[in-house]
Amino acid sequence: MKTITSIKNAKNSEKLVMITAYDALFASLFDEKVDIILVGDSLNNSFNGRKDTLSADLDMMIYHTKAVLMGAKNTFVVTDMPFASYTDEKIALKNASQIYRQTDAQAVKIEGGKERAHIVKTLTNNSIAVVGHIGLMPQFARSEGGFKIKGKDSEDIQKLIDDARAIEDAGAFCIVVEGVKEEAGKAVSEAVKIPTIGIGAGKHMDGQVLVWSDMLGFFEEFKPKFVKRYLNGADLVKKAVEQYTKDVKSGKFPNDEFIY
Ligand code: KIV
Repeated sequence: MKTITSIKNAKNSEKLVMITAYDALFASLFDEKVDIILVGDSLNNSFNGRKDTLSADLDMMIYHTKAVLMGAKNTFVVTDMPFASYTDEKIALKNASQIYRQTDAQAVKIEGGKERAHIVKTLTNNSIAVVGHIGLMPQFARSEGGFKIKGKDSEDIQKLIDDARAIEDAGAFCIVVEGVKEEAGKAVSEAVKIPTIGIGAGKHMDGQVLVWSDMLGFFEEFKPKFVKRYLNGADLVKKAVEQYTKDVKSGKFPNDEFIY
């Protein structure tokens, strides 16, 4: 099982693999198969059916983290701090402490660059391990008018580098970099000593993260360009359930094999 030290040491020696999980069943399937499980607030989209992550709250994150930890006994687990749960240092410390006290999550993740570095510092100064998240930040999508790819010009790349360095200096032990041009992902990864974990950030990152329901093909509504589907989950499930319905309606199930 990874630790904060081994995650940091992975930089330049081993690619890190992160996947999201929201419940015990899937977390148990992912346990020990990946380096890090993220209880992402993306659960609000793929689990809860909402358009964005903003209505995920602390109670939901704690509930799902507890469930994930029941399944993922041997994997490093990170929990997202939900929208508006870290608006200042005091609120952030109160809410992150609640996550630490009520779950065994090993770290929390916070969206934001330079402007949130003081929050990261407060948490790390109080023994709460922090993963940063820069680039396209889903919690900012509503105020920014949509999901905008970042790092499109040299000024924007420099901003990302400054953000990553500020988060690193504040004590984060790794950074998720989402939705940036590959060149920007490379520049950020080269600019910091802590590992960068990319999602839609290209191949030069120190690791990759995907949302489980995207990569296993369960979420059909929309497929971002960066998602590789490793399974056609939705097709398989729908076909299986249609078959079950046919079998029950026709009297084929249960046959002698399935009765006491
Ligand atoms: O909430 C989430 O799943 C995330 C990933 C997209 C990195 O933050």
